[in-house]
Amino acid sequence: MVVSVGIIGATGVVGQRYIQLIEKHPLFEIKVVTASDRSVGKSYRDAVNWGLDTPMPNDISKFEVKPTDAKSIPEEVEILFSALPSQIASKAEPELCKEGYIIASNSSNERMSEDVPLIIPEINADHLDLIEIQQDNRKWDGALIKNPNCSVITLAPTLKALDAFGLERVHVATLQAVSGAGYEGVKSMQILDNVIPFIQSEEEKLETEPQKILGGLEGDKILMHNMEVSASCNRVGVIDGHLENVWAETEEKVTIEKVKNAFKKLKGLELYSSPDVFIEVFEEEDRPQPRLDRNLGEGMSISVGGIRETLSGIQYNCLAHNTIRGAAGASVLNGELLMGSKWF
Ligand SMILES: NC(=O)c1ccc[n+]([C@@H]2O[C@H](COP(=O)([O-])OP(=O)(O)OC[C@H]3O[C@@H](n4cnc5c(N)ncnc54)[C@H](OP(=O)(O)O)[C@@H]3O)[C@@H](O)[C@H]2O)c1
Repeated sequence: MVVSVGIIGATGVVGQRYIQLIEKHPLFEIKVVTASDRSVGKSYRDAVNWGLDTPMPNDISKFEVKPTDAKSIPEEVEILFSALPSQIASKAEPELCKEGYIIASNSSNERMSEDVPLIIPEINADHLDLIEIQQDNRKWDGALIKNPNCSVITLAPTLKALDAFGLERVHVATLQAVSGAGYEGVKSMQILDNVIPFIQSEEEKLETEPQKILGGLEGDKILMHNMEVSASCNRVGVIDGHLENVWAETEEKVTIEKVKNAFKKLKGLELYSSPDVFIEVFEEEDRPQPRLDRNLGEGMSISVGGIRETLSGIQYNCLAHNTIRGAAGASVLNGELLMGSKWF
């Protein structure tokens, strides 16, 4: 079965990744692309500053960019992939859900809402059951599913593995790529020869989203995991790939070998976009690195390395491609998960 889909916010950094990933996807066919008034009415080719290293798909380049509202979306469309800025998404997404659309969204609005599933399919696919409560609460036939923040998607799988030892406390320092800030995000004069030790609202996301993802679905609520997370975020002059330095403390004393095995044991899924290896564990102390390792598993693997024992626990580094596993790829994976679920 091939499902008709639309991409809302299709001209930005994440929107372009959606186009790249879905264009060759066997289960999804793009029927509409939307963006802001700046782009509406133009051809996709004229509206976008294409920044990827594969050519813009010829058929999509000729699409006319539509406004982001229900009347501009062809009836046959069933799933919308969203890459809208969150303040725009907070109004547009609920309106589209009311019209019956299923939305797999990257935007940060509503990630922590009690009735919104915040999904990494390999970790908490069961949280999709929140859709029933969402549809009841909000009186709509559509569904809103979020993927986590890009740095959280990199970190949370490693935390899930460590939770086998009773995860209590996590400290994380991120080194985040410029593509994470969106197309207009960071000026080259600010970021070249520099590190910016601040990313608006990023630390709060890292300090709250993992507890929801690793939480348990009890009745109609997520019982948050009780680990403490503290974060410090930096923007660095890398195009793609967020690297993170993590310090974790667990109830049970762990060794490097136990931690490596726990990472390796965390199994991936068999969805179309699932990587062969979910968490790639490096033996080399100086890996993973963004330029060398961000494309592992076609950008969908998480990689870890530099694992060592510290006085209080374990320290390691982890990496993922922020616009693939951390954004568009994450939400395409959520779309694939939905297609195989009772919610579709
Ligand atoms: N970049 C990442 O790595 C990343 C990772 C995870 C999550 N996210 C989240 O994903 C979303 C998109 O991020 P991005 O990096 O792709 O941002 P971006 O490059 O700034 O793109 C924003 C997109 O939204 C459209 N848009 C802006 N205002 C609009 C409006 N009023 N109505 C309809 N469409 C509008 C833009 O269209 P125009 O071109 O017409 O302006 C563009 O297509 C954000 O919520 C971001 O926080 C991003």
